[in-house]
Amino acid sequence: MTNTATSSRNLFEPVALGPLTLPHRLVMAPLTRNRATAEGVPTPLMATYYAQRASAGLIIAEASTPNAVGQTYPNITAIHSPAHVAGWRMVTDAVRAEGGRMFLQIQHGGRAGHPDTSGLTPVAPSPIALPETIHTPAGRVPSVVPREMTAEDIASTVADFASAARNAVDAGFEGVEVHSANGHLLHQFLAQGTNRRTDAYGGSVAHRVRFVVEVTEAVAAEIGPERVGLRVSPGNTVNGIEEGDTEEIYPALLAALAGRGLAYLHVVHADPEDAVFQRIRKDWPGTLVANPVLPADRIPDDGGHAQADRLLAAGADVIALGRPFLANPDLIRRMRTGAAVNQVRDAYLMYVGGETGYTDYPALDAGE
Ligand SMILES: Cc1cc2nc3c(=O)[nH]c(=O)nc-3n(C[C@H](O)[C@H](O)[C@H](O)COP(=O)(O)O)c2cc1C
Repeated sequence: MTNTATSSRNLFEPVALGPLTLPHRLVMAPLTRNRATAEGVPTPLMATYYAQRASAGLIIAEASTPNAVGQTYPNITAIHSPAHVAGWRMVTDAVRAEGGRMFLQIQHGGRAGHPDTSGLTPVAPSPIALPETIHTPAGRVPSVVPREMTAEDIASTVADFASAARNAVDAGFEGVEVHSANGHLLHQFLAQGTNRRTDAYGGSVAHRVRFVVEVTEAVAAEIGPERVGLRVSPGNTVNGIEEGDTEEIYPALLAALAGRGLAYLHVVHADPEDAVFQRIRKDWPGTLVANPVLPADRIPDDGGHAQADRLLAAGADVIALGRPFLANPDLIRRMRTGAAVNQVRDAYLMYVGGETGYTDYPALDAGE
């Protein structure tokens, strides 16, 4: 099915996404909240948090690591053991009981990891350290030089993504989102600054997109392409990324994946005026999820509604919001009615702690 830009899209109308029909076009973006156990097992508190947000059209659950070496930060979730599957099953059951649907984001951190967190030396396309400190159980410490991935590492990582996707489906997720954004392992392969390989996975654009294509295809072969989304962040320099040739990487990546029947492509910091975004809309025949550029320091009073409408008019099919859902368990109700939104109370608590700053954001009273 080809989606063409139309300005008549309404945020609150149903939309198809893979095998699902979402009740409206607003989905919750993946948000790492570091509330899992040290072993990466989701907790009952996480089930409460996600169930509170079940009115999202789809919840794309936070980054979950497909193997031990892919762990980025302390207390992030994982999806490579029976305990992880059981923990996530508790979460998906709680969300389903409230009428919601979930995908799980699968993320390998690559060089964004540390032996003090995972117990292992991180791996990456090339032995180039993250040019900044990294959060560990003992606080922020200098990053280490990652080990360059061998051909065997590449093959086993591709296989780990596929089995993580199978685990996610076993845990009750409707599908998975492959994380190729924000400077993590897949993005490190795409970008010139982090990929200095001279084999079939480095050098030309065709070589640098190969790993992302292989991972996505392996995951699609495992659980069906209609259950697989892909997240990208063209031009994003987070985690020390220098892409070099953004205008060439993404068209090449999309050309390789456009005909595969994936559930969606998800673009971070989507700007309707941006030429790369417009090119992606033209090149991507399927469902396009756009995560707008909201101010860094505050959630707009309308929760991001105006930005969402602009992106829909520019051809996006679905809108992903992060912090608005973090601070507003009933964001959909607030946006439908134009009610004021809660702001994030304490940015520190986004990545640390228990209930405070997590499950204690108030919903509107019944009468409001
Ligand atoms: C606390 C927090 C955690 C995040 N964790 C993830 C993550 O696990 N995976 C990911 O792809 N992006 C992650 N992001 C980025 C968000 O998905 C989103 O792209 C970003 O917050 C911008 O959207 P917003 O302005 O609606 O919040 C995170 C952002 C925040 C604030």
